[in-house]
Amino acid sequence: MGIYTDEQERFFSLRTKNTEYQMQADEYGVLKHLWYGRPVKTNMSYLLEYTDVGFSGNPYDAEDNRRYSLDTMPLEYACGGTGDFRIPAISVLHTDGSNSLDLRYKCHQVKKGKYAIPGLPAVYANEDKAQTLEITLCDCASGVEVILRYGILEELDIITRNVAICNNGNAEVILKKAASLCLDLPYGDWEWVHFHGRHTMERMVQRNPLNYGIQESASTRGTSSHQQNPSFILCSTDCTEKRGECIGACFVYSGSFQTQIECDQLSQVRAVMGIHPSLFEWHLSAGETFETPEVILTYSSNGFSKMSHNFHKVIREHICRGKYQLAQRPVLINNWEATYFDFDTDKILDIAKEAAKLGVDMLVLDDGWFGKRDSDCSGLGDWFVNEEKLSGGLENLVEQIKKLGMKFGIWFEPEMVSEDSMLYRSHPEWAIQIPGRKPTRGRYQLVLDLSRSDVQEYLYNCISNILKSADISYIKWDMNRSICDWYSNNLSAENQGELPHRYMLGLYALLERLTTDYPNVLFEGCSGGGGRFDAGMLYYCPQIWCSDDTDAYERTKIQYGTSFIYPISAVGSHISVTPNHQTGRITPIESRAVTAMAGSFGYELDLGMLSSEEKQAVTEQIKRFKQFEALIHGGTYYRLSNPMNENTALWEYVSESMDEVLVHGMIFRTVPNMKRQRIRLSGLCPDCKYQVTGKDEVYTGMALMQGGILLPESCGDYYPIEIHLKKQEG
Ligand code: DGJ
Repeated sequence: MGIYTDEQERFFSLRTKNTEYQMQADEYGVLKHLWYGRPVKTNMSYLLEYTDVGFSGNPYDAEDNRRYSLDTMPLEYACGGTGDFRIPAISVLHTDGSNSLDLRYKCHQVKKGKYAIPGLPAVYANEDKAQTLEITLCDCASGVEVILRYGILEELDIITRNVAICNNGNAEVILKKAASLCLDLPYGDWEWVHFHGRHTMERMVQRNPLNYGIQESASTRGTSSHQQNPSFILCSTDCTEKRGECIGACFVYSGSFQTQIECDQLSQVRAVMGIHPSLFEWHLSAGETFETPEVILTYSSNGFSKMSHNFHKVIREHICRGKYQLAQRPVLINNWEATYFDFDTDKILDIAKEAAKLGVDMLVLDDGWFGKRDSDCSGLGDWFVNEEKLSGGLENLVEQIKKLGMKFGIWFEPEMVSEDSMLYRSHPEWAIQIPGRKPTRGRYQLVLDLSRSDVQEYLYNCISNILKSADISYIKWDMNRSICDWYSNNLSAENQGELPHRYMLGLYALLERLTTDYPNVLFEGCSGGGGRFDAGMLYYCPQIWCSDDTDAYERTKIQYGTSFIYPISAVGSHISVTPNHQTGRITPIESRAVTAMAGSFGYELDLGMLSSEEKQAVTEQIKRFKQFEALIHGGTYYRLSNPMNENTALWEYVSESMDEVLVHGMIFRTVPNMKRQRIRLSGLCPDCKYQVTGKDEVYTGMALMQGGILLPESCGDYYPIEIHLKKQEG
């Protein structure tokens, strides 16, 4: 296993526990992609035989070989302008106005450990857990070199990719596109899965056969977005949860991105993923290097479940960081849906007192505690406590909450500014807007230019001052609009195209500084719910508020889609009031509980308004969540039904030792004379016996996996399911 190279043949094989990835530089130095799939231990180039395909041109050095065309062969990193007419991974503009690149193999290097990317989030690992392969390609005419980096985490079946583009020539080069991933699959019959949606309806799963030509999922919103997630899956047509092949890709980036999948004239597939080129340009002077963000890849020959397990492990254990990465998370109560902007110290304390009685660990004070912020029209940027609302100040409130035995957390939306704010009045030049044009407003607010170091410094100081002013254990980092009108007062006209990526670098620098200086603070990401739910943000925030839709039924679909790539511990999820504020739907409090437990559990309502039975239920739920938390966050997660088209949402957590199992979910609708539904479990030890907690029922793992278990008789709609089993000793 590990990285295998054949120097003579210029052949490279990346071998993980269950997968193999192959490349070879051919006689002309063109780096071809040969294979990504199960370990084959054979150089797969024997499958690449091409005919003379009309109108697919030939490189000059192929002389009279009309069968050799860059337009037809699988390439490891495709470049534009030299005869491959499919999607390029890289595009440049040279000083003479031409835009060709002809990348040929130059050298390679194998290194211990996993590479890091300066200024960008990336998978990290101990030196003995990972290896790096670097292959350098060179465009002789311009001196541009491209270093393709591969990080291999053998045990996890993970391969990461990033690209460094170095201008080793004498003249400036303008990068117009610099993708992180180019993956050519010359074999197979693939379907495309991606995750689309909108605000309060993120990550809906869509699976489609490939059309000839290009299909795309992308964001140009300056965030990874509610509308499309920066991840995709290519799967065999027969792929299910347990069977079939799939390749998953997840972009470790939180800004605009583009994924394009092309099915070419020979039915071959190319996937290209990276920063969205329409919002990207980078000037590379002689001697400079540009680093792309990272893509995480995994291949599974055992369906979507195995692919998700690989992603869950790598993101939880090698992307998320800090004190709370693997630790128990505080069960929190957030006041947003309880009060919105209308609160004062007493109201917050009332909520906290009730929550403390019921066993909640932390109170989170949401939007509205600072500046002039009684609605979403004003105040953003003025990160000073509004003492009219919080009489006695923040310190007093925090002390009183601590006396209740609770921790305290607070909301920020650092990247934004309201026009009606002291900050905007003193620094209008800090907002992203184009001189001479009226800016586009989103939720009445403008976006601060995070590419500027003075803006980063201001935000660091504001947040730091608040953190120093009281004992604060948690920050909710919100971001509530898409970005447009890109223009920075700090950049010259010719460099304006760099702003969207410079914004991301500024955001990451600020987050890095704060999370380093305040290691005990738990950061939760948020962007109007799940508008920036990506592996980039998870590098700084081990949990992200999954959606502003807190309706338990809708959440089962949102969390189903999210679970394909992201671990359960990353999902911020709360129980809210019924009728639900987003949909008006009424669901049982237990259904809301099992749904919210599929994440970092919490509440978002005025607990004082609940009946005494409901309060009792809350106390029980918190105890149960704490009992199950290690299993839920650290166990292996299985999707047992598809809530997009079935009458149930069911999922399962299995402990690593396979001795504890928890099935959660709900039956959406009850009809008369309903047959009891059986549900087949996954991931158990076939020969072991499992007892259902609280019952005499004992079944073998094999029976539970092959025959299944009967769900209880349901009553009413959104009927909650909780089945807990333990392996019998001996
Ligand atoms: C959007 C978030 O998703 C909500 O939870 C809440 O924090 C509001 N912003 C506050 O403005």
